[in-house]
Amino acid sequence: MTQPAAGHLRHLLDLEHLSASQLDALLRRAQTFADGAHAPAALTGVAVCTLFFEPSTRTRLSFQLAAQRLGAHILNFDASTSSATKGETDLDTFRTLQAMGVRGFVVRHKSDGAVAALAAAANPGVALLNAGDGRSHHPTQGLLDMLTLRQAKGEDFSKLKVVIVGDVKHSRVARSDLHVLRKLGCGEIRVCGPASLLPDDDTLHGCIVSHDFDSALEGVDALMMLRLQRERMAEGLVTSLEDYHRDYGLTETRLRRAAPDAIVMHPGPMNRGVEITDAVADGPQSRVLAQVANGVAVRMAALEGLLA
Ligand code: CP
Repeated sequence: MTQPAAGHLRHLLDLEHLSASQLDALLRRAQTFADGAHAPAALTGVAVCTLFFEPSTRTRLSFQLAAQRLGAHILNFDASTSSATKGETDLDTFRTLQAMGVRGFVVRHKSDGAVAALAAAANPGVALLNAGDGRSHHPTQGLLDMLTLRQAKGEDFSKLKVVIVGDVKHSRVARSDLHVLRKLGCGEIRVCGPASLLPDDDTLHGCIVSHDFDSALEGVDALMMLRLQRERMAEGLVTSLEDYHRDYGLTETRLRRAAPDAIVMHPGPMNRGVEITDAVADGPQSRVLAQVANGVAVRMAALEGLLA
């Protein structure tokens, strides 16, 4: 998030550049929305566009619902039915919508840095919220994951043990979660996956890295399972779905290695029977649907913070 003087937030592009107090303020406001607070006129007369160049269910629809609850006008841009199919550039698309008076852009793009590039072309008073770019950032997913953790484990993360499991290398969710877990002082961050799916840059600094899922699970308070991106099989990074499930699939038996009150999170969409079994995904320790519900609250807080 870039931040002009006076502490007002201009854009939400990543979580790296937010201070712990800014993160805390957003999470506190999101919790009030999760508890049922209303702000039906906060964005009256403000036009918000969901500008998605990649598919989405949760992020797009929860941003739309969040904007509606704040009283905004919502426009939904779908690249597949737009003039992008005739060759219009992303920048011309953005400028066209800006010229219509759209003030809030929620943008998802397959390319790293694409949302920041559009933000650099934003007019004064126009705010962009990154809904996921490439493998880089998914800031509102990071925030909703932290809200879910706080609700289950309290605000003091200093004694928490969290494990992130799976395809961290290609995951913008994992990167945003890692930034925010560090900033909020998480006691121990473990990362587990096959070597082919773990990054070899400084993404994992300060983390305990393991390729053995059973040992990485011992005593953890929270598990963040990641979607196995099946296209990685075509690239030869995973041998087979069966092998992956055997080595990194979360089953009820494996979950017993975690703390008895451990929670299970997954950003969705889930590959049931691959990274997680039905029994765990739908079991008593799963917080998957709480994450979805918290997505609306977090996105209300973010839209209000940037545009109200
Ligand atoms: N978690 C997440 O970003 O889901 P969608 O791709 O459905 O938005």
